[in-house]
Amino acid sequence: MMDWTDRHCRFLHRQLSRRALLYTEMVTSAALVRGGALHLLDYGPEEHPVALQLGGSDPVELAEAAALGAEAGYDEINLNVGCPSDRVQAGCFGAVLMERPALVADCVAAMRAAVRVEVTVKCRIGVDDQDPEAVLPDFLSRLRDVGCEKFTIHARKAWLQGLSPKENRDIPPLDYPLVLRMKERFPELHLSINGGITTLEQAQALLDAGMDGVMIGRAAYHDPASVLGAADPVIFGAGQAVSAEAAARAMMPYIAAHLATGGKLHQVTRHMLGLFTGRPGARSWRRILSEGASRPGAGLALLEEALEAVTGAPVT
Ligand SMILES: Cc1cc2nc3c(=O)[nH]c(=O)nc-3n(C[C@H](O)[C@H](O)[C@H](O)COP(=O)(O)O)c2cc1C
Repeated sequence: MMDWTDRHCRFLHRQLSRRALLYTEMVTSAALVRGGALHLLDYGPEEHPVALQLGGSDPVELAEAAALGAEAGYDEINLNVGCPSDRVQAGCFGAVLMERPALVADCVAAMRAAVRVEVTVKCRIGVDDQDPEAVLPDFLSRLRDVGCEKFTIHARKAWLQGLSPKENRDIPPLDYPLVLRMKERFPELHLSINGGITTLEQAQALLDAGMDGVMIGRAAYHDPASVLGAADPVIFGAGQAVSAEAAARAMMPYIAAHLATGGKLHQVTRHMLGLFTGRPGARSWRRILSEGASRPGAGLALLEEALEAVTGAPVT
């Protein structure tokens, strides 16, 4: 998620779940190939399994970008066919590509030819006045025919005119039954469902209904301990739940190393504000970190102070 799932965020999320597949922010193929912005590929070895998400619509450029991602060691290269922002439409990529399945197939074929790691696609069920019942199966089968086997489907349309990107994550109605029917129709494909899923119970129900995977975006970011902290035992049937405190403590050596190389505390702690969501003292935790972490010289002592405020808060 742009501006959210940077490498600090992914490191935090990896402290909470050893198994969940994490995704980078979208990186455009143009930035990598034409702009030479290879720093956008930086990540830490602790983040695995981690997928690089690319945005673009030029098969040659996407193939080059995918090769750079594979060389950097990403476990999966994912193509964004779901993002509705204006900037993205202007460059003809993201959700607008739902209208150009043949081009998407060319892109995926070129990417697959360039790398050994799996190339996957994240898409919507359609855009604007498209009929998802017709468009989505056509889209999936064309991509299957060029060898793409794994998709994440955001179970709502993107309306490309008149809605902001934020509104496009909430206003077009969700259609889980349609996505579940796609799994019945394409049993050979690995299909994950996305959109509006906020709890592991909901995720498990969708897995029980036949989905191969569930992608959780905003809820995992805003309440990472509840969603990711319990994912290993609850969803993957392996490992122990990780508490918010344990994750906060596990971040300390990472933060110390970040500070030692000139990084700022808030660059990491901004992703930790939701760690104690729903717990007594969560507000103090957020306040101490959001007010103090940008101050010059802010360091681990502030994190200790915030942790003390939240763990010492009386349980009501
Ligand atoms: C701040 C923000 C940035 C996002 N950036 C991306 C992105 O770069 N690529 C992408 O495929 N989806 C992006 N999304 C969409 C999410 O991946 C997801 O599809 C959407 O939020 C619906 O899932 P959720 O209800 O679990 O959050 C973004 C969402 C948010 C809130």
